[in-house]
Amino acid sequence: MKFFLDTANVEEIKRVTEWGLIDGVTTNPTLLAREIKRTGGKPFDILKEICETVKGPVSAEVTTLEVKEAVKQAEALAEISKWITIKSPATIDGIRITRKLVKKNIPVNMTLIFSANQAILAAKAGATFASPFIGRLDDIGKDGMNLVDEMVTIYNNYDFDTEVLVASIRHPQHVVEAALLGADIATIPFNVIEKMTGHPLTDYGIIRFEKDWDEVKDSGFKIL
Ligand code: E4P
Repeated sequence: MKFFLDTANVEEIKRVTEWGLIDGVTTNPTLLAREIKRTGGKPFDILKEICETVKGPVSAEVTTLEVKEAVKQAEALAEISKWITIKSPATIDGIRITRKLVKKNIPVNMTLIFSANQAILAAKAGATFASPFIGRLDDIGKDGMNLVDEMVTIYNNYDFDTEVLVASIRHPQHVVEAALLGADIATIPFNVIEKMTGHPLTDYGIIRFEKDWDEVKDSGFKIL
């Protein structure tokens, strides 16, 4: 299972890259706007720095659905780095944009997927990634993970190359469930990846080992 970091915050990306856990990054207009406000940086500069840091696929979203304009935007974004993947929403115009970009060999992440039908169309359109937004489905009382299950089954049935990129992850259990279903990628917010390491029994175990070792540490045997 690949892990992408779901953020445009360069400091967070640098930290998790240093841990050796990150295969890519997803951004969206909300995340990028947050980073622009936080740092005063320019969108292309921020994306460039992200690509240089992570050296894996970095999703950047077009901000128009007017097809010609979106393709122009996508081409400009793709100039930033070979790692840029263009996010296009799962609508008819989004599919038209995707088809044009695929023909130009620009990889696409079809985003805002909330149904298996949209996921089938994303694969048929030749998207590299398809992003089901599970948290937003859960938010309206639907089972987001059910969509992941359907997508994994359908893509396996037909050997589609499109990868299931589970998005809108809200907590560590979402990551576990996506992994159990065989999703290709989870894009995870920084706070969730931090929480994935936490367990009170691990913390207690470390304290107890330290205490027990303290009692004999002068016995002459040294580990370090
Ligand atoms: C990533 O590709 C998505 O844009 C992101 O996961 C959306 O998350 P949200 O539903 O928490 O905004």
